[in-house]
Amino acid sequence: MPGPSIADIFDSTSPEFDLVTPLVWGPAGETLVARAQVSLGDRVLDICSGTGASALAAARVVGPDGHVTAVDFAADLIDRGRTSAYAAGLRNIDFRVGDVTALSGHDQGEYDVLTCGFGVFFLPDMDNSVRNLLPLLRPGGRLAVAVWHDDALYDFTSAYFAEVARVTNTPPPPGPRAPSDGPPHPITRIDTVDKIVGWLETLGAVDASASILDLRVPRTDEFSWSMVLGSGLRGALSGMDADTVEDVRTGFLQRLSDEGITEVDCDTLIAVAARPAE
Ligand SMILES: C[S@@+](CC[C@H](N)C(=O)[O-])C[C@H]1O[C@@H](n2cnc3c(N)ncnc32)[C@H](O)[C@@H]1O
Repeated sequence: MPGPSIADIFDSTSPEFDLVTPLVWGPAGETLVARAQVSLGDRVLDICSGTGASALAAARVVGPDGHVTAVDFAADLIDRGRTSAYAAGLRNIDFRVGDVTALSGHDQGEYDVLTCGFGVFFLPDMDNSVRNLLPLLRPGGRLAVAVWHDDALYDFTSAYFAEVARVTNTPPPPGPRAPSDGPPHPITRIDTVDKIVGWLETLGAVDASASILDLRVPRTDEFSWSMVLGSGLRGALSGMDADTVEDVRTGFLQRLSDEGITEVDCDTLIAVAARPAE
């Protein structure tokens, strides 16, 4: 039987997703918008928007003459984004439910900036998906993406998947960094400054640059479990009954403590490039 889709997994993160926002999604989204030099009056497209960490930050910057379109296929996250925008008095932002890979071919040249926080590596055929989105930018418009830097979350996710494997009595999944004869995992193809700059250039973008946002979060039980339930990591729990999930939770938190992990490495790589001017 096929597992849950990415949209279903992220929809199910909805109650916990914004517990992670103040410590991870939020600072990364604010920094993404700042490094993309989003400005007053800009038209911004934020893809894989979740609840709007970068989209809401952009809406605050572009002001009433600018506009932000935020797109994600997890309808519950989009609902939360809309509610936050309304509560913040932002009327210059639209949250839309949709698959961002279906956006290419529409609104060509419409946007000054295209932002994407922690989303590109989920897209099927990452290169072609992003290449096809570039024409939505006006010539000279900027693409800005946030991804995990290097071995961010490595110890954390290894401990988690080891516990999932223990309770399900199955081998742990190989993980993005495991040696393999197949193509490298999208996450590891763009996880250093050099790799992501090279990647953006192969897509036809120009003036690419990247920098690291140090994001180390103190390892508390509350944050650690919210990071699982409020991210794609949650997918590994689907189909488990409540007792089994609790077994994973307690084993995982104990393992993090036993391994002496005092902070969660959420270091983020932020890259910006431009559509060539014509
Ligand atoms: C880790 S979350 C990041 C959300 C947000 N950008 C942030 O930084 O808080 C990744 C998001 O990508 C969305 N996503 C993945 N593939 C997508 C696709 N093809 N179309 C629309 N959304 C997608 C998921 O639903 C999820 O909300």
